[in-house]
Amino acid sequence: MTDLVSSGKISTSTLGESVRPDFPILERRFGPNPLVYLDNAATSQKPRAVLDALVNYYCDVNSNIGRGYYQLSMAATDAYEAARDSIRRAINAEHADEVVFTPGTTAAVNLLADTFGRSAVSAGDQVVVTGMEHNSNMLPWRRLCETTGAELVVVPVGPEGRVAIDRFAAALGPRVKLAAVAHVSNVLGTVNPVRDMIGEAHRHGIPVLVDGAQAVPHRPVDVRDLDADFYCFSGHKIYGPMGIGVLYGKRELLSRLEPYQVGGGTVKGVTLDEPVAYVPVPARLEAGTPHIAGAIGLAAAFDYVQQLGWTEIQRHDDLLVYAAIEALESIARVRILGDPAAQPSGIVSFVVDGIHPYDVGGHLDRHGVAVRSGVHCANVFIDTFGEVGTVRLSFAVYNTEAEIDLVRRALATVQPGFWTAEHPTERFLATDPATQNQH
Ligand code: ALA
Repeated sequence: MTDLVSSGKISTSTLGESVRPDFPILERRFGPNPLVYLDNAATSQKPRAVLDALVNYYCDVNSNIGRGYYQLSMAATDAYEAARDSIRRAINAEHADEVVFTPGTTAAVNLLADTFGRSAVSAGDQVVVTGMEHNSNMLPWRRLCETTGAELVVVPVGPEGRVAIDRFAAALGPRVKLAAVAHVSNVLGTVNPVRDMIGEAHRHGIPVLVDGAQAVPHRPVDVRDLDADFYCFSGHKIYGPMGIGVLYGKRELLSRLEPYQVGGGTVKGVTLDEPVAYVPVPARLEAGTPHIAGAIGLAAAFDYVQQLGWTEIQRHDDLLVYAAIEALESIARVRILGDPAAQPSGIVSFVVDGIHPYDVGGHLDRHGVAVRSGVHCANVFIDTFGEVGTVRLSFAVYNTEAEIDLVRRALATVQPGFWTAEHPTERFLATDPATQNQH
């Protein structure tokens, strides 16, 4: 038990050990070590309820949707649309047609950049992002600006890894056509005040896209309370299948978007000599056969977290984040980046002075501990700190204080060069200093 629990500052959690039997992969061992999976910000493990939903779909209902006039196809269509409505309820969207299924967050941002972006942004306009964005919410906007002659405005983050609301507000003005901001940083777990940021943007009539990839697994998201114009996330980070994600958009904004990709499922009818008439959203933005099983699995994942309860999930996050801080602070040369205790979101990033993050990650792997180390697809953000990268512990409902204690014990023996000495450096480390931060 952590000092914080024993001192009564936080209460203990009912999650952790109790839910581990729900996740078959946690039975894996690496040599003598049980798997300690602390890379949940990259992807979370899947509970049996989600795996069963996938298997049941393929065993009982598998067929294509919206294009078969037979019972099986109609059952698949109903199941897919029921999943959409389930996600609508989970994020408190008003209408099911405001929920577009995409392959993930990256696909959702690219969809929006190539549809909304291309129609709303022209030469001389501006798109505002923050300096803590994942590349997936930075590069689509950068490319849009490069191709249209618009300007990408990056609101800087402070040394503690926060975006100050006044700096964000100062970047807004008549030239800005969209602001795209992370809800929670994938590197530090910092929570942006997105409700206030959206309020500031709306005072200028600027729509806002929120990248909720790291928020949705850790807190209930209410898109109407946030007043988000667009909100996107990936299913696989919230215990759902890979290859499925969501782009939420307010109906009046989404319905104005031209199809992103064209093809099957997007048209009312096609003749060679008349303009193509496209169907309304969401189908007009879901060309081709969608990831039907993925949508159903994602709905099962939301059911799973809702059964655990957000209060319990957040209490568990608090417990693990505080326990990790306590453990890391006890180790010489370890520096925690940012202020993960401010609003725990299941992420603690650190560096060990004098030891490359890959060496730390490789050393932990030898103890069966899976963490991500490097720049976490957030190169610009990492540059803010002047580091080559960090080691990131990212937690889920099945992680335990005992696992954090194992990390603490393993770190006591970490050495420089432990990993990089034994592995081809070009796979992980650029030898050219100019490209050193590319991973
Ligand atoms: N976006 C994922 C991460 O932060 C892959 O690790």
